[in-house]
Amino acid sequence: MQDGRTTLSKFLIDTLDRRPSPHAGAGLSALLIDVAAAIKQIASALTRGALGGHHGSTQTFNATGDEQKKLDVVTHEIFVQHCEWDGLLAAMVSEEMDGVYAIPAGYPRGEYLLAFDPLDGSSNIDVNGVVGSIFSVLRRPDGDDADAACGDAAFLRPGHQQVAAGYAIYGPSTMLVLSVGNGTHAFTLERDVGNFVLTHTDIRIPEDSGEFAINASNERFWEPPVRRYVQECKDGRIGCRERDFNMRWIASMVAEVHRILMRGGVFLYPRDFRTSGLEGRLRLLYEANPMSFLVEQAGGLSITGRERVLDVVPRALHCRVPVILGSRNEVERIGRYHREHDRGEDKPYTSPLFNERSLFLPEASA
Ligand code: F6P
Repeated sequence: MQDGRTTLSKFLIDTLDRRPSPHAGAGLSALLIDVAAAIKQIASALTRGALGGHHGSTQTFNATGDEQKKLDVVTHEIFVQHCEWDGLLAAMVSEEMDGVYAIPAGYPRGEYLLAFDPLDGSSNIDVNGVVGSIFSVLRRPDGDDADAACGDAAFLRPGHQQVAAGYAIYGPSTMLVLSVGNGTHAFTLERDVGNFVLTHTDIRIPEDSGEFAINASNERFWEPPVRRYVQECKDGRIGCRERDFNMRWIASMVAEVHRILMRGGVFLYPRDFRTSGLEGRLRLLYEANPMSFLVEQAGGLSITGRERVLDVVPRALHCRVPVILGSRNEVERIGRYHREHDRGEDKPYTSPLFNERSLFLPEASA
């Protein structure tokens, strides 16, 4: 580009079209441009806020039982309209739709599959908080024709098979964070021009961090290894970690993952005794998998507690999975706590108020 800036199109042409990878075939860059167009339209709709006439609930529930906001439905339709016509997709799965959406007759069917959450963190809409969109791209299974790719089985593959993943964050600025398997990169929307411009190349998540994010109101439903980790963070300097931690909770996975990509930290939506099968809250296909792909591409880790999220084989389109992701050393520690617990090796928790660094000891209180 003449002004030295890299737009999303230039990035994709340089990265994918001029250096085709064995995993991603022709057309992936065009598909991602269509996804970006959907994101720009969603950004524009969200900016209008209550003036857009789309605030409030539809009084309906999606496939996983969440109450649908009007904007969940509107943003779902924007994704479908921008991506169904181009001949690059065989089918789509959306959080807001029960089954697979096969590309309708009348449009050619292509070699990719798109799974998306069109509006993540939609409970933040009514309070003008940060929300996002998340997407994951798979290639149609080898040997399948375009019609076979429209069944559930085509989507029920582990996340390490993704050829691209990303999210949009609609905050003070709109950003698109993307990976096509060569690092994680972020583009900022230049709203008056309508271009996504590369602003963060090859993001690296710091290996250590003093920040964790979890919905602490669920503590009574967590397993012991997660309770242990969080308690140790809360104990801070006087506990076994010997440092103070900060806690954050924005109730939008996009916002939490974005913060972790920018400055490190760990995000937990762990196994939870409220959910059948103890799967936690997050959906594998269009929340956990794309975010785990982005985090791993940025040098972080993403586990369920006991295995890598990207190796989990989905049981169903909308299945849920526990997610613990972020700074490598913290996630490794939490994984170790799970292993120690499963082997019966974790010690009962002792409050630091009663150990050698206790606040009640003369040198600490002096
Ligand atoms: O459904 C996904 C989601 O909205 C995430 O974006 C977010 O991390 C989480 O749910 C919020 O959950 P809770 O309602 O427990 O705060």
